[in-house]
Amino acid sequence: LRDELMTAVEGAPDLGALEEVRVTALGKKGRVTALMKTLGGMDPETRKTAGQEMNRVKDAIAAAIEARRAALEAVELDARLARERLDVTLPARPERAGSIHPISQTWDEVAAIFGQMGFAVAEGPDIEDDFHNFTALNFPPDHPAREMHDTFFLPPRADGSRHVLRTHTSPVQVRTMMSQEPPIRILAPGRCYRSDSDMTHTPMFHQFEGLVIDESTHMGHLKGCLQEFVEAYFEVENVPMRFRPSFFPFTEPSAEVDIGCSRKGGELRIGAGDAWLEILGCGMVHPNVLVACGLDPTRYQGFAFGVGMERIAMLKYGIPDLRTFFESDLRWLRHYGFAA
Ligand code: PHE
Repeated sequence: LRDELMTAVEGAPDLGALEEVRVTALGKKGRVTALMKTLGGMDPETRKTAGQEMNRVKDAIAAAIEARRAALEAVELDARLARERLDVTLPARPERAGSIHPISQTWDEVAAIFGQMGFAVAEGPDIEDDFHNFTALNFPPDHPAREMHDTFFLPPRADGSRHVLRTHTSPVQVRTMMSQEPPIRILAPGRCYRSDSDMTHTPMFHQFEGLVIDESTHMGHLKGCLQEFVEAYFEVENVPMRFRPSFFPFTEPSAEVDIGCSRKGGELRIGAGDAWLEILGCGMVHPNVLVACGLDPTRYQGFAFGVGMERIAMLKYGIPDLRTFFESDLRWLRHYGFAA
């Protein structure tokens, strides 16, 4: 029996087979175990010698199994080491890093520039009610901007109110004035929505709104503030600016602002030149707006401005079509240097 089992142990080809041999020999129902059970029926003298002999066999087999196990494990380890070898001298595979979308970048840059001038960032909801988007901003009830062709209306609510996707960031002016005491100095970047799509319009776009309210702010402050912003954002000094009289219901007087530029060889350059580019709308906050927001117009005054984020990004990076911002085309991002 001893030799037979020893041969089986030596011949076990792998750890699984070795375990089977162990169970057949030393397991509860194993052959050595069965043999040991016969000891009970022997007379004491025979049992003593037979017992010693059987224990020797059992220990020898157990030792042989352990030795075989160690040998098999070593073989397996060698095989694994060979299989899983790493070549640490291989060059790394090139990976494409993620990058910031030009709109996010513009958003961050603008917030940083106005942050330096002491503006805090404020935000409002994309879904607005008629009051914040229009009424408090002094839109007369029949103003064309309320009509379907511009504004996305949501289905009427149970109380009959019609909410809209905000058409500009100006409702954040209202929310700020109604919740904060002057002096106020905020920058409100955010998404806006208008039912429109062509080279220079998308149904969703971004604006940032500036609002300053205190007791002595005047139009000179507005001009200085915008001049500083334009020069910081476009990284050009002494950019000519032109304030053209305009109209917004919520500002009086109102202006549209143009910046100087030149187009030589088809390339647009911001700065002193032979042409003008419109970049934003602004004005002194209308007294009706102050009243609607609960502020005393004989005590407080201030200015506001609204800028299209895509518009200034297009000018800075020479992007001709606004729709491309939202097409998620990596080739486009790479072309303008926004992705690796
Ligand atoms: N809300 C205006 C627009 O969307 C821009 C604007 C903001 C004009 C603030 C004046 C003051 O066109």
